[in-house]
Amino acid sequence: ASGPAASGIQDIAFATGHYSFDLAHLAEKQGIDVNKYYIGIGQEKMSLPAEDEDIVTMGAAAAQRIIDRNGTDGIRTLLFATESGIDQSKSAGVYVHGLLDLPREVRTIETKMACYGGIGALQMALGIVARNPEEKVLVIAADVARYDLETSGEPTQGAAAVAFLVQADPDILAIEPAQGVYTLDVQDFWRPNYRNTALVDGKFSVGAYLDALVGAWHDYRAHGGVDFDDIDWFCYHQPFTKMAVKAHVRLTEEAGTPLEKADAAAALAPTFGYNQQLGNSYTASIFLGFLALLDSDQEIPGERVGFFSYGSGAVSEFFVGVIQPGYRDHLRVQEHLGILDAREPIGYDQYRALHPGTFVEAQENFTTERRTRSPFRFEGVEEGSRLY
Ligand code: HMG
Repeated sequence: ASGPAASGIQDIAFATGHYSFDLAHLAEKQGIDVNKYYIGIGQEKMSLPAEDEDIVTMGAAAAQRIIDRNGTDGIRTLLFATESGIDQSKSAGVYVHGLLDLPREVRTIETKMACYGGIGALQMALGIVARNPEEKVLVIAADVARYDLETSGEPTQGAAAVAFLVQADPDILAIEPAQGVYTLDVQDFWRPNYRNTALVDGKFSVGAYLDALVGAWHDYRAHGGVDFDDIDWFCYHQPFTKMAVKAHVRLTEEAGTPLEKADAAAALAPTFGYNQQLGNSYTASIFLGFLALLDSDQEIPGERVGFFSYGSGAVSEFFVGVIQPGYRDHLRVQEHLGILDAREPIGYDQYRALHPGTFVEAQENFTTERRTRSPFRFEGVEEGSRLY
């Protein structure tokens, strides 16, 4: 007897902030060799939102394109994953619901677990579709990654949103049921409510990521996951692209077929294109790795992609999806390259002026200046309410 129809990703798109900042400007200011960033951590640029952009405007811009192509039929759930929440109570997804004028008959929720929140939302979406294959779930993962100035995390800031549609019998990626999960309470990266910027124990966080990878991998194998050799591509959470290289070296050691750094980097290179230019986008980062692979010149129908998501704190997961035949007809390559190119490059002083500082300041009323080219704009705050 045949099982339930496979479900997974039908369509996927990204959006980002208005500005791009080349790490060469940061290195110059710091008086260090830019290759520490370009080569050492594998990052070239970061995206920065304008004053009138945030997770809602980026998330809505990405989701609008999914709705324009697919309509709203069958969508009864909107999941918004973020760790840069704009309200302690109301889901950012409800603002997007309003901006996109989605049907009222939709449940809308925000999910949070550091960078893992997006994959957590994907797994919840798959559960909803498994219960009723007529339903579709719109998932948005959006974040602005901010660290304090002059800290180790500073070159790994960034901003982006990814939106995707989860449904039965998808055209891009069918997700296999085996999952490997791993949670351990560690204090490697966190952001208390009174701060705009995250606190991080950088070197410790790298080790925590690698330990979580090993834990999730073994759990994946213990729960019916395929052999390492049966996975064609690996798509890791990329806080900086070099992190994925370290992870792949570690995983190949664990699988008994160790790769040198250079070979691991070559194997993963097609997943790096977007994150190298956007910086860390927390919940969106792993999906941008996947989008880079889809939009690359690799022809990969029928091939298996292994996904590893890591959210500091820490929750992680390993699972696999199969690229569907004809997937290329459903991509948005030119649209995505256009979004990268449309960003306005800025120098160090403007970057510095855009940085919000460490602490959240109470501001019940203010208006923003118009900058964004996005169809959606954050206008400011009136009596404590955010206006778009
Ligand atoms: P650092 O300590 O300043 O850098 O920052 P470093 O001294 O370790 O150098 C980095 C690499 O550059 C090294 O290579 C150097 O050799 C190399 P590696 O040994 O790693 O292979 N290097 C050079 N290469 C070429 N030319 C040169 C040169 N100079 C040096 N001239 C650190 C590194 C990761 C600590 C920092 O970037 C950081 O604090 N980042 C933020 C934390 C982070 O991203 N952690 C990742 C794991 S946790 C995670 O992924 C979750 C997260 O996304 C949050 C969430 O879940 O919400 C962060």
